[in-house]
Amino acid sequence: MDNVEEIKQKLDIISVIMEYVPLKKAGVNWKGCCPFHNEKTPSFMVNPDRQFWHCFGCNEGGDIFTFIQKMENIEFAEALKILAQKAGVQLERFDPRVSNIKNRLIDICDITSAYWQKCLHSDCGKNALEYVNNRKILPETLQTFKIGYAVDSWDDLSKFLSDRGFTETEIFQAGLTVKKENGRGYYDRFRDRLMFPIQNVHGNVVGFTGRTMKKDEAAKYVNTPESPIYHKGEILYALDKAKQAIRRQNYAIVVEGNMDAVTCHEAGSKNVVACSGTALSVDQINMIKRYTENIALCFDQDSAGQIAAERTIDLLFAAEMNIKVVKVIFGKDPDECIKKDPALWSASLKQAKLAMQFYFDRYLTDEALADINKKKKSAEKIMSEISKLKNKIEHEHWLKKLASKLDISENILREGIRKNNQLPAKTANQNKPLPPAKPEISSKEKLHGQRILTILFNFPQLIAYSQDYLNGEVFAEPEHRDIYKNLIILYNKFKDDLNKNVLIDELSKKELGLNQSYLNSLIIYIDKIYEGFDAETLRLELGALIKTFKINFLHRKMKEANQLLATAEKSNDRELEQTLLKQIQYFSEQLSDLK
Ligand code: CTP
Ligand code: MN
Repeated sequence: MDNVEEIKQKLDIISVIMEYVPLKKAGVNWKGCCPFHNEKTPSFMVNPDRQFWHCFGCNEGGDIFTFIQKMENIEFAEALKILAQKAGVQLERFDPRVSNIKNRLIDICDITSAYWQKCLHSDCGKNALEYVNNRKILPETLQTFKIGYAVDSWDDLSKFLSDRGFTETEIFQAGLTVKKENGRGYYDRFRDRLMFPIQNVHGNVVGFTGRTMKKDEAAKYVNTPESPIYHKGEILYALDKAKQAIRRQNYAIVVEGNMDAVTCHEAGSKNVVACSGTALSVDQINMIKRYTENIALCFDQDSAGQIAAERTIDLLFAAEMNIKVVKVIFGKDPDECIKKDPALWSASLKQAKLAMQFYFDRYLTDEALADINKKKKSAEKIMSEISKLKNKIEHEHWLKKLASKLDISENILREGIRKNNQLPAKTANQNKPLPPAKPEISSKEKLHGQRILTILFNFPQLIAYSQDYLNGEVFAEPEHRDIYKNLIILYNKFKDDLNKNVLIDELSKKELGLNQSYLNSLIIYIDKIYEGFDAETLRLELGALIKTFKINFLHRKMKEANQLLATAEKSNDRELEQTLLKQIQYFSEQLSDLK
């Protein structure tokens, strides 16, 4: 996928355009007054599914890029830069080879999935086919999901691919082989496994999940590692097949396992996607939000599943989605439930609870209510969730319910929420370990963020340098992140005309929605330090700061993963452990690249 496609996939055209034009939903489309000509009746339409806009008044139209170009009166290259930054996409315009590599890798995955499909129906795939039949997967489902079989061999696939002209390095980059320990050569990653190709939203195969066919194999699932074409947090299994149904039914169901998604689709629930056993990422949530605001989570009943559900609900609250939680009536996951009886699955869906009810049931058990200490902690947890509700009616509704459940007056609860908003939310629960709070953003990290912004404020021309080396996501503080993003947009708009005064004027504009008091404090801070330095000295300083900043960011990420790992170890959750170990390894590789 090239940069343009990647950016389009990551950004929601509705929210990008809404930064300039208020839009209202009108069926599948969104509607507003055209920013390019004067009108009172809205004739400006945006179609989120196909990612384009069109004005029936002035007959203008195009995609997200042309919109920004026209709106900001800039060239395509500049729009590309701005939107890449918004989407967190690193532009590869300096190296045309890279997109060729990506195409090659997609070819490899495509050819491999076709080959493995053939293997499933050949002699060596006999056992796997029997397994598939036992799990009652229909032949047409095998076709739609391109399910295949990787034979029990160390080099079968490597040979197949190199016969077709792919190099060892390319095959390795696609994630299909593993480097030998002695450093000489590679061996096939997937052996004797049922293979589920992972397709991106456009249907291209970009990675694989393989389920072992061995009885005594420790790793039940093996996945493609992160690769130039496969980023786990940015892909939802089966979304390519589910997106139409999600839009039509205006609701998405998220399950954990690939097999669950396959079985659900077979049973007629076509609006199902799978998150592959982890909490949803912000990117994944945004992908779903393009099609619907309504989401039902059906995570496993084990502790890893419940922890993932909680984390996901928090992010979904933040994204202002309508959330329900589904508990399967039978079995541990949708697959088991449907295999028992599809009617049990439909019934489970009908009984879906609102997310807040899920918290009530999870924390306000009879046992917790009977013990004052536990009761207090559970009440605090639920109040912290209620205080996240942005809608007042909902807020009141749940507060009343909580008061009656706890047999405590509402006023006392209100009092508690007021305090809670001032203090960091307490979420301890003695029965089940909850995921530990995220590691605190160190004051050093805050300071570095502040310094970087300060330099950029004083020498806006250095933004040209920083935008190539520093992605906005690295800022731990949301205020910093927002300001940084806007600095880049402004720089690309004003170029050499950008100076500190213009910057401050622009950033103070209300419509940007920046935290003004924070901005003011930053402006004051600017004048205090870095006075009298020349641009070159500051560029060197900036380079060093960015490097330390990235290192700290990765350390924080590692710490976060390590804390979760400890919880996973305690609850004996091997799968979660594995995922986290992989994450940690990824972060540490990035770290050593920096050092
Ligand atoms: N998973 C993974 N790596 C693991 C374990 C699980 O990537 N070591 C992901 C897989 O995508 C899997 C999902 O998490 O589909 C759910 O895992 P699990 O519930 O253990 O498996 P099931 O989907 O129930 O698989 P099956 O029914 O085949 O046992
Ligand atoms: Mn299962």
